[in-house]
Amino acid sequence: MKRTTPVIPAEDIQRQKEYCAELRGRNAQRPVPPRAYVDTYGCQQNEADSELLRGMLADMGCAIVDDDQGADIIVINTCAIREHAEQRVFGNVGALVHGKRKNPDQIICLCGCMAQEPHVAQRIRQSYRHVDLVFGPQQLWRFPEFLRRVYLRRGRVFETDQDDGAIAEGLPVRRSGKLKAWVSIMYGCNNFCSYCIVPYTRGRERSREPGNILQEIKALADRGYKDITLLGQNVNSYGKDLEGGWEFPRLLEAAAAIPGDFLLRFMTSHPKDATEKLFDVMARCEKVAPVIHLPFQSGNTRVLTAMNRRYTREQYLDKIRALRARVPNVVLTSDVIVGFPGETDAEFEDTLSLIEAVRFDALFTFIYSPRKGTPAAELDDPMPKEEKSANFDRLVEAQNRISLEKHQAYIGTVQRCLIDGAGEDPRNNLTARTAGNRLVHLSGDPALIGRYADIRITACSTWALFGELV
Ligand code: 5AD
Ligand code: SF4
Repeated sequence: MKRTTPVIPAEDIQRQKEYCAELRGRNAQRPVPPRAYVDTYGCQQNEADSELLRGMLADMGCAIVDDDQGADIIVINTCAIREHAEQRVFGNVGALVHGKRKNPDQIICLCGCMAQEPHVAQRIRQSYRHVDLVFGPQQLWRFPEFLRRVYLRRGRVFETDQDDGAIAEGLPVRRSGKLKAWVSIMYGCNNFCSYCIVPYTRGRERSREPGNILQEIKALADRGYKDITLLGQNVNSYGKDLEGGWEFPRLLEAAAAIPGDFLLRFMTSHPKDATEKLFDVMARCEKVAPVIHLPFQSGNTRVLTAMNRRYTREQYLDKIRALRARVPNVVLTSDVIVGFPGETDAEFEDTLSLIEAVRFDALFTFIYSPRKGTPAAELDDPMPKEEKSANFDRLVEAQNRISLEKHQAYIGTVQRCLIDGAGEDPRNNLTARTAGNRLVHLSGDPALIGRYADIRITACSTWALFGELV
């Protein structure tokens, strides 16, 4: 298959594995293996990247641990999407200086989207001198090489040059769950929404070969994974850089044809590229969960245009109608930004009216956060913070009411759910998920974890359902 996206040659991946083997040899000489901790901020793509980082660390002979206390290697996988996320990272990285004073051999690494922002890399270089290694998301596959360089040189390593990115296959992975798995199908983003930092941190859109993706899903299904989420910044752009007519609905349908008792999900979808073809596949394939995360960001067409979203309010509502005509029981979730620069109160009312019109099952609400280097950060932003917060509160309140009403409609129904874990409340010692990914609390035998079961919904809150085994 001919393609335009560069694929990292197998020899280069092999070389990284040789570095892992070399470090494994070094680590085997220690009385105990080094303890490695990976801390993840941000989105599911970062969670998936952290599973690769842990896979590489395990391959180097490290013991993977769950907190930074006494860790010999700490990797902070960061998110740049909003100021608040960045402040938390700076706070937590700053606090690591004390641990490093006690254990000067400790190695501290910072990667992920923040690492790719020039002003962040600069600040780490100057003011966080206890950080040994900084590398961006496109360099993730070279982590063993970088770590080796830090060991050999005992110097700091910064690998943060701008890079469009390539596809790296065959890296070791250490998955966090035994039932649910992430499968990245593409990386990067070409949309350049005017508020968003991601196209600058994660490079250009690039798709994995369908054969590799389907093989990975098959291996997961064979190992008993029950819930597989296909990941990409915009999964609906899948295949645009591939020859052979591969596009997302076709990939999804091929994945759904893989034998096994599992459900497929995907995220995130950009409304401009979510097509009726996709909705048809959702309707046709039982293995595709009836749920979609379709961020609308604003209910006002002028604001949508200023955001460079490339759809209007009416076009968004049309998509929802087309989707519901095919998948009537679809669970719909979305993202929305309040207080985009120049958004007026009247424009905000359009956002409120859109959520009343659509009635999402759940909504992720954000106050606009200016990101250095994005076009929106240059716009006039006259609305005071307090006014944005008041609008935000109104939106959250309206959505909470809608979420509760949506949950109330489940009461009395029977849902086939995956029992996926232990709950914290002894009266409801298990948790489960409906096909639409709604959380259900129930009591039952812990041996049921990992099985599908019919659950009668008996009660609910804004955030969850409560039920009993049928
Ligand atoms: N400010 C606030 N929210 C943002 N998002 C992305 N960039 C910003 C920003 N600068 C939100 C969008 C996106 C979600 C992942 O985060 O709603 O869909
Ligand atoms: Fe955060 Fe976006 Fe990067 Fe994910 S891709 S870590 S949400 S900035």
